[in-house]
Amino acid sequence: EIGVRLVGSEMCIRDRFSTLLLFFVIFTVAYNLTSKAMKIGILTSGGDCPGINATIRGVCKTAINHYGMEVYGIHSGFRGLLDNDVEPLTEKSLSGLLNLGGTILGTSREKPFKKRLSAASEDKPALMLKNIHDLGLDCIVCIGGNGTQKTAAKLAQAGVNVVSVPKTIDNDVWGTDVSFGFDSAVTIATDAIDRLHSTASSHQRVMVIEVMGHKAGWIALYSGMAGGGDVILIPELSYDIHNIGNTIIERLKKGKPYSIVVVAEGIKTMDGKKAAEYIAQEIEYETGFETRETVLGYIQRGGSPTPYDRNLATRMGGHATELIASGQFGRMVSLQGAEIGSIPLNEVAGKLKLVNENHDLIVQGKRMGICFG
Ligand code: F6P
Repeated sequence: EIGVRLVGSEMCIRDRFSTLLLFFVIFTVAYNLTSKAMKIGILTSGGDCPGINATIRGVCKTAINHYGMEVYGIHSGFRGLLDNDVEPLTEKSLSGLLNLGGTILGTSREKPFKKRLSAASEDKPALMLKNIHDLGLDCIVCIGGNGTQKTAAKLAQAGVNVVSVPKTIDNDVWGTDVSFGFDSAVTIATDAIDRLHSTASSHQRVMVIEVMGHKAGWIALYSGMAGGGDVILIPELSYDIHNIGNTIIERLKKGKPYSIVVVAEGIKTMDGKKAAEYIAQEIEYETGFETRETVLGYIQRGGSPTPYDRNLATRMGGHATELIASGQFGRMVSLQGAEIGSIPLNEVAGKLKLVNENHDLIVQGKRMGICFG
């Protein structure tokens, strides 16, 4: 500690300033030499989607450039914490990520807190905690959907510093208006629906397209409305095949002998049939129209993120690092209106964000004659 004794001597302002500057420089050097750079672990878990790499880039470039932190990529989701499978991330490893689909860290659906029937299964939570300690990680950033948020909440309850970022094409993570991946999936699905119009009208057929979304109908609703679907079926609303048939027949009477039917994969069907297969079969039986089905599947999760998703991912990733730098753990980053914020993880875990029947796209669509079942 430096003590400057002003012994009654007249020190001019310049000398006092240079003494204070000297004190500040010494303190800063001493602080940087003694303070340990924070070490962050980052993992991606659950279904992949466009925008994950942009999020990794947002977290890590903010941490390295703005806060001088060290960042370690954990491979294959939570399995990487069990296997000690990590790699240091540097500026070099972060280049080219913004528009790159998928996740450079790999992912898995490992649920380490899930109780196993086999007594042989090792104590996975204890192994994870040991590895986090041995790696000297001060915080874990978890990027994932509902399952990941649930595991992240349990990790936080076990005493680990955790910050999570919502990720899924399904847009069904509670607590955030939108998750990155959703806009990219809707863009892909809408392009596919656009393409079905020409073949439907050329063959005077009914074209049924099945989109992803798990138990939620967000992708079907948004792509169905953007793609000009005549019938849109989502898990949140029940449907009657007679109503669907009437819509198709009414279009025929108006001189439109073809229809586009958009179905979410999670709608109820009979005999365990897939959504598109079941609805196409029922429509053909009900109306006599030649009907064909398309299952868009994993194309909705592939490729480069849209510019919207790139910026949302960047904003959310950067905010995750801000939470870490300010010591705010146990929280999930979220989009609320136009603002990026965060909410307690324990408020998110176990909840699903589903489409409300009064959503304005549904109300407006019905007024325009679109059939929602
Ligand atoms: O959660 C994203 C998602 O693509 C869902 O829409 C879909 O039902 C599920 O993942 C498919 O899971 P998997 O990738 O394990 O086949």
